[in-house]
Amino acid sequence: MRFFIKNYGCQMNSYDSQRITDILAHAGHEIANSSEAANIVVLNTCSIREKVDEKIFSDLGRIREMKKEYAKDFIIVVAGCMAQTRSSDILRRAPYVDVILGPHNIHQLAKIIDKIVNSKSSDVVMSTAANVGSKFPQSSDMLFERGVSEFITIQEGCNNFCSYCIVPYTRGREFSRSVLDIRTEIKNLVSLGVKEITLLGQNVNSYEGVGLDGKRCSFSRLLFELANISGLKRLCYMTSNPKDVNLDIAIAHKEIKILTPSLHLPVQSGSDSVLKRMNRRYTTDEYARRVEMLRAHRPDLALSSDFIVGFPGESDADFQQTLELVKNIGYAQAYSFKYSPRKGTAAAQMDNQIPENVKSERLRTLQNLLDNQQSRFNQNFIGQHVNVLFTKKGKHEKQLTGRSEYSQSVSVATGVAMGTIAKVKITEVASHSLIGVVVP
Ligand code: 5AD
Ligand code: SF4
Repeated sequence: MRFFIKNYGCQMNSYDSQRITDILAHAGHEIANSSEAANIVVLNTCSIREKVDEKIFSDLGRIREMKKEYAKDFIIVVAGCMAQTRSSDILRRAPYVDVILGPHNIHQLAKIIDKIVNSKSSDVVMSTAANVGSKFPQSSDMLFERGVSEFITIQEGCNNFCSYCIVPYTRGREFSRSVLDIRTEIKNLVSLGVKEITLLGQNVNSYEGVGLDGKRCSFSRLLFELANISGLKRLCYMTSNPKDVNLDIAIAHKEIKILTPSLHLPVQSGSDSVLKRMNRRYTTDEYARRVEMLRAHRPDLALSSDFIVGFPGESDADFQQTLELVKNIGYAQAYSFKYSPRKGTAAAQMDNQIPENVKSERLRTLQNLLDNQQSRFNQNFIGQHVNVLFTKKGKHEKQLTGRSEYSQSVSVATGVAMGTIAKVKITEVASHSLIGVVVP
């Protein structure tokens, strides 16, 4: 059969979608370029904000029309976080779905499809048991073709229960893969031509997998264990929880050459009282001191963050403190969101939910500030050299685009091959991206 995967949400979902691709391709199915050209459609879903849920239900309605045309031999799979937490809603609102698969169950998909095809049954197959760890590739597993920059999950799930967040309910408790498994997967990826690896986890700093010596290994130790993999040119990671950043991580940033000087360190809010109600377990002062420590070890560190505006009870004064924090810390880049209540989380029950128009206004103000800050960060690079890993075609003909070590998008006109790292002199800054020339 021919399959198409539509991915929603975060990088961990992209990794899972890649894993589903490996598994289905290995079972003899072919990749289709669009849902129209497929007869297995997988929606790998996300639950982090409500807007995405509604988009997924509307996409399902459209795919249902295609299923009607193809009749029997058309399989619709809903995988990922929404499948885990909203299976009964999916059964009710989209009873034509054939398979519901939680994020820990994706490795079962090829067998489930075989069963459906052979049995011709129209019952929904559901698999959402917490089966943590089973989905990751074994060393003998075939990996399908890859780009030059890939993600790999090292740790999944979360024990923190920030009061707004659905992740502890969708991806469950923390689980860490072993150092050996991670090293093996990275070596296999490098042998396929991968040059840059981003280590993924809801909380990479909580990593505590089994080390090569059989003992528990910390996240900073893991970074050192991966630093010497031959052929690996760049190592990145996300996401760090500010409460867990320690000196060993700062030292890793100083000593490990392939570790990029960019760090995603989501602060969420600049108000201590909001942080407390978010259950983030750090204060703005502790956050600032950790940033200072990191910068003392790696002065050129480019910081990025996530922000939530309009958390229940957020006052104007709280919001002003977020703007102040942004000005004081200085970010290279950031994502900001309106608070979205998620059923089952503590914050959804809190009093003083903020009206939509106030959230929108605050989001606009914050995004303006962050945009200006990003522009200024980028302007400082005019005339400077950065190292760019070229990963895709640019907007204009012959142009290639890639990312600098500071995670900026950089384009050049000529003089470089796709998939290589080249030194680039920055000549221009255009909104969120940089333009430059390759230098010898
Ligand atoms: N509403 C809005 N944003 C959220 N995030 C997580 N949960 C919610 C929510 N309920 C944001 C946080 C997190 C990012 C991945 O998504 O900023 O860091
Ligand atoms: Fe969600 Fe907080 Fe866990 Fe991140 S650390 S996944 S925001 S609960």
